[in-house]
Amino acid sequence: MDINLQKTRRIELGAEEYLNVMVEFSEIVFHDFKNILSTISGLSQLSALNTNCSEVKDNLDTISQATFECRDTIDRFYSFIKGYNTFGIKKTSLSDIIFGISDMIKHRLNTPNGNEIKLNLNMESFGIFYCDEYKMKQAILNIVLNGIDAMEKTGGVLDINLYENSNKLILEVQDTGVGIPKDNLEKIFMPEFTTKGDRGTGLGLKISKNTISQCNGEIFVESKVGVGTKFTIVLPILDNNLIDIN
Ligand SMILES: Nc1ncnc2c1ncn2[C@@H]1O[C@H](COP(=O)(O)OP(=O)(O)OP(=O)(O)O)[C@@H](O)[C@H]1O
Ligand SMILES: [Mg+2]
Repeated sequence: MDINLQKTRRIELGAEEYLNVMVEFSEIVFHDFKNILSTISGLSQLSALNTNCSEVKDNLDTISQATFECRDTIDRFYSFIKGYNTFGIKKTSLSDIIFGISDMIKHRLNTPNGNEIKLNLNMESFGIFYCDEYKMKQAILNIVLNGIDAMEKTGGVLDINLYENSNKLILEVQDTGVGIPKDNLEKIFMPEFTTKGDRGTGLGLKISKNTISQCNGEIFVESKVGVGTKFTIVLPILDNNLIDIN
């Protein structure tokens, strides 16, 4: 890379605009990398299933594992570029995170088939706790988007409830979507499990669960096919839950 050319470009554009261009560029790189990693990981898992040679199988499993680590690194880089502090555990308001998410998903509430998804927010707590705000937002956003995906064909109702119980924060995300078959319930937190074909990487819930665990929280799921799904996230309120985040 020509450093002088880069400097000239930076002066021409101005610092702020230059940074914006870099952020946009990083978003494209991030997105493309994610898809490439998905292909590598998917094919290595498929090949691992189709081989009888245990050494080849072990190597393919290692390749697949490396793609998860790679994705994590890219995630951090992206967060950093976006100006978020990757190691930023701080006092955070869960209700603020949820209001932020509800703005981000507005465009998904009218489905392509013309069916409506009704969003009900029921906030009985500000939900103050310690977490890495960016990571937690991504974790909850994935759960909310999963609910919307599940109702995309039919429309339905998405209830988001936040309340306190016995010094815990309880966040419920409940949809009236397709539901999760019993056999799949134990697989949904596994890496690469997706029923969305090319549209999903199947990493969302694994990352959501990790983020919640890092804040000493827990996640539970209940679901009934044809009725809907409820995810419940339990987090300690403002306790000494500062942990080794990585
Ligand atoms: N609310 C839900 N209703 C029905 N199925 C769900 C719901 N949430 C998760 N699932 C199932 O769990 C799978 C895994 O979800 P996860 O968020 O890990 O990955 P994904 O949504 O498929 O892909 P990604 O999050 O990477 O875009 C989904 O593909 C879907 O089959
Ligand atoms: Mg998802």
